Amino acid sequence: MALRSILIADDEEPIRHVLTVLLAEQGYFVRSVKDGDDALRELAARDYDALVTDVRMPGMDGLSLVRAVGQQAPETTVIVMSAYGSHDLALEAMKAGAYDYLGKPFRPDEVLLVLRKAEERERLRAENRRLRREIEASRGAGAIVAESAAMKEVLRTAQKVAPAKTTVLISGESGTGKELIARALHEMSPRAERPFVAVNCGAIPEKLIESELFGHAKGAFTGAVSAKRGLFEEADGGTLLLDEIADLPLHLQASLLRVLQEGEVRRVGDARTIRVDVRVLAATHQDLAQAVAGGSFREDLFYRLNVVGLRLPPLRERTDEIEALARRFLDRHASRLGVPAKPLSSDALRLLLSWRWPGNVRELENALERALVLSEGEEIGPEALPDELRPSRPPGGPPQPPEEGELSVKKAQRALEAELIRKALERTGGNRTRAADLLELSPRALLYKIREYGIGE
Ligand SMILES: Nc1ncnc2c1ncn2[C@@H]1O[C@H](COP(=O)(O)OP(=O)(O)OP(=O)(O)O)[C@@H](O)[C@H]1O
Ligand SMILES: [Mg+2]
Repeated sequence: MALRSILIADDEEPIRHVLTVLLAEQGYFVRSVKDGDDALRELAARDYDALVTDVRMPGMDGLSLVRAVGQQAPETTVIVMSAYGSHDLALEAMKAGAYDYLGKPFRPDEVLLVLRKAEERERLRAENRRLRREIEASRGAGAIVAESAAMKEVLRTAQKVAPAKTTVLISGESGTGKELIARALHEMSPRAERPFVAVNCGAIPEKLIESELFGHAKGAFTGAVSAKRGLFEEADGGTLLLDEIADLPLHLQASLLRVLQEGEVRRVGDARTIRVDVRVLAATHQDLAQAVAGGSFREDLFYRLNVVGLRLPPLRERTDEIEALARRFLDRHASRLGVPAKPLSSDALRLLLSWRWPGNVRELENALERALVLSEGEEIGPEALPDELRPSRPPGGPPQPPEEGELSVKKAQRALEAELIRKALERTGGNRTRAADLLELSPRALLYKIREYGIGE
């Protein structure tokens, strides 16, 4: 971020002349004016990256000018020049927001040095702004990879409902990104600056959930030595995520419904009610409608929570996302671990695409973090991925017929068996039971040999 345009303000013509020539020679766009009023007029007319101004001028002096620039053109870097006897004024100007000062008389290289320093600071400020933007993008919706049609739809709905206070029920298998979506809903809402509180209803002992959620009065029960605010109060003005909501005991489902309807909580052992303004999100890996049918979840609460439902599909149903997710995780963990990011080899990608990912996105993320640490080459190869991703294969590949002149009965037998099994599977269109019949093998034995010989991979 180079400074390119510079305005000079000085009542002495020779100074204006010297600086204009010097800076124009260095490629800066330069204009000069004779006092503070003219400088402000010029700054209003166009943007300057820097202002180099004398502190003592007739009319508006440098100090007042620095203050006015701070108001009118805060992005402009100000450098003040002070002659012998005006150092105090220069210091005042620095306190008022000038970035640096030049003592008069100055040599050309001193002027250039001060400008370089200002440029360096400007570069750091720009870098800082860029990092800030990146951090913001890594929160909220920017953190979510959505390549598949299903995830794009989820994000679209999330963007639509985020600004309102609507309760949202987020469902999906473990590791599909339920908490990530909940955070994004919060970040995209007007509540973003207020707290986001997440509580796992399945992880708190049943006896404690009520006081966790709603707080308790002093002496409400043994051990309640002082009054305590509940999570609803903690989340006041913000968002409360009730994770694993299906694990909430029935009697507390009734209390929760009341809080949602009335917007008030009552601490355990306290008669007063406290108004809270909380947006509630709920998440579950279970099928809540089924829990309702089975009687373990209140139907009225289900409808109250499920005003909008977001279902996150398991990763195996959105394989078109795997590559983008993998890239994102490799970059993220590389920068976190302070190691260079590596690309995925095509063999490794093939393994990622064919695995069923029971632990969904979290499992993928863990696999790649591990791969990044383990891999030694230029790229991430299949050997760095967890064993379970690799189809079991006999060491050395499928059996080969004996070489010319080789007399191994065992080798010939294995090769023949593999060949016959392949043919039988071909003839039965892959039907293993019928193939086993043709081969006069038990289905178990056939399955074993198929695995051992790596057939059909
Ligand atoms: N679409 C996505 N883009 C980027 N990262 C994702 C995505 N989905 C999930 N993740 C990451 O995967 C990990 C697991 O996600 P999260 O904790 O939100 O899942 P969850 O559904 O709440 O899981 P659980 O049911 O086990 O609590 C997190 O590190 C999250 O950042
Ligand atoms: Mg979760």
